[in-house]
Order: sequence, then structure tokens, then C-alpha cells
Amino acid sequence: MLIVGNWKAYVESQKKAKTLFATAKKLALTSRVKIALAVPGPYIGLLSSQNRSKVLLAAQDVSVSLGGATTGEITAAVLKDLKVAFVIIGHSERRAMGETNEIVSEKIQQALAHGITPIVCIGESERDIDGTYLAFLRGQLHAIFQTLSQEQRQEIILAYEPIWAIGKNAANALSPTDLTEMILYIRKMLVEYVTEMGAEKSIILYGGSVEPSNASALAKDTGVDGFLLGHASADADIFTALVKALLIPKVASSARLKIRP
Ligand code: 13P
Repeated sequence: MLIVGNWKAYVESQKKAKTLFATAKKLALTSRVKIALAVPGPYIGLLSSQNRSKVLLAAQDVSVSLGGATTGEITAAVLKDLKVAFVIIGHSERRAMGETNEIVSEKIQQALAHGITPIVCIGESERDIDGTYLAFLRGQLHAIFQTLSQEQRQEIILAYEPIWAIGKNAANALSPTDLTEMILYIRKMLVEYVTEMGAEKSIILYGGSVEPSNASALAKDTGVDGFLLGHASADADIFTALVKALLIPKVASSARLKIRP
């Protein structure tokens, strides 16, 4: 199980960044979950320099810039130099600022070229009874996968983040039943791009109001490989409670659903 904490812009002091990082380090020592933290750009350097732990660093975004005269950009080369393992690409909060599927694809190429694993976000803004949102997801996935080589398709992590479930609370998150259905649906879509075996192996995370009270239900037998946390990752006590909720043995090793029932 992979837990990625996306601090977004919730953490605005070095002190808090260090406290949260120390909390994650302790949890990573004792738990069977893999923890990565997607921290604001300037804090990557701060935490990377003292990181001898199992906690992996992630970035919240990467530039399409190849380097050189592009003021203000953080390139994949800089992230690589800071030993960043993952980068979130195409988060809905960045798509809302104008990031298109084309830009998302360029960023994926930059990350992969520098040995950084992209965590690519997809997700509908709302649901409708006609299932239009499923076609929307298919379109998002196609736009991304058509630009990748066979090999690259297996190198990315997908994060399913329905926009309507982000930034709420456990009561308004996706239900475990719906998550099971969505993971299955996404894996079925993936078969077109990476074969059936590849689709079963692909890592799919869920993000959207995962909190200590719903984490284990969302993890258990839903076929999900982990979570992309937002607000719950920016508070040491809540983050600790959430990771501990996932430590029940059955949850940490929950069996994958087969694509074909
Ligand atoms: P919340 O957990 O705050 O809903 O955020 C989810 C998210 O957007 C993670 O990238």
C-alpha cells in the first residue's frame, strides 16, 4: 500500500514541515505502508538534505521547461537532483489553472526522462445518472496514454481523484462500493493500453477526502493500491491515525480484484 501525502499549500512553515516529516519517518519505520510526501517546492530541498529515512519525497508539480531561460520554473532535472521519487501531474487544482492534457503529457515525459515516477491524476467534476462521467474519464485516460510508449505506460501511477469528493470529509468521500467499481472500470480501460496483465499490475491510487474514519474501509477489498491524501496529510495527529488505521493486517495486504470477475 502506497500512501502519498499531498500537502498542497497547507504547510507554510519550515517548523511544521519538519514536524510532519518526522512523524512520517516514525510511521515508515513501524508500518508496512510505503509513505511519500508531496511537499511545497522549497521544502523539498529542506527535507531532502536530511532524509536518510524510508520516506520518499514527491513534488506537487513539474515544469515542462527543459531548463535555461524559464524564470520561476522547477524542472525535472532539479527534482532529480533533490532525489525526488514521485511527482504529481495533472492534479485537478492545476488543471483548473489551465493545465491541459497536452501539458500533462509533456510533464509526464519530463518526469520519466529524469527517472521520476509520475502520479497522474484523473477524475470527473461531477456524476450524472447517464454515466457521462465514465466517458469523460475514458477521454482523460486516452489523452494521456496515447502519447506514451508501451514501456512508459507501465511506468506511471494513476490517481483517481473525483473532483466532487476533494476537500470535503469522510462522509462525502467516494464510498468503498463505488471505489471498487471505479478501480475495476479503470483497470478495464487500461487493458486497451497495457494488456490484461499490465492492467492488473498498474498502480492506482484514490484521492478525495480520505480520513482516519474511512481509510480502512476504502482500502479493504476495493482493489486500490493506496491513497493520495490531501488535508489529512497536513496534520501530524490525523496523518498518524490514518496510517495506523491501515495497519490492520488484512487491509495492508488486501487482495487485488481480478479484472474479469
Ligand atoms: P483531500 O484529501 O483534502 O480531499 O485532497 C485530496 C487531494 O486532492 C489529494 O491530491
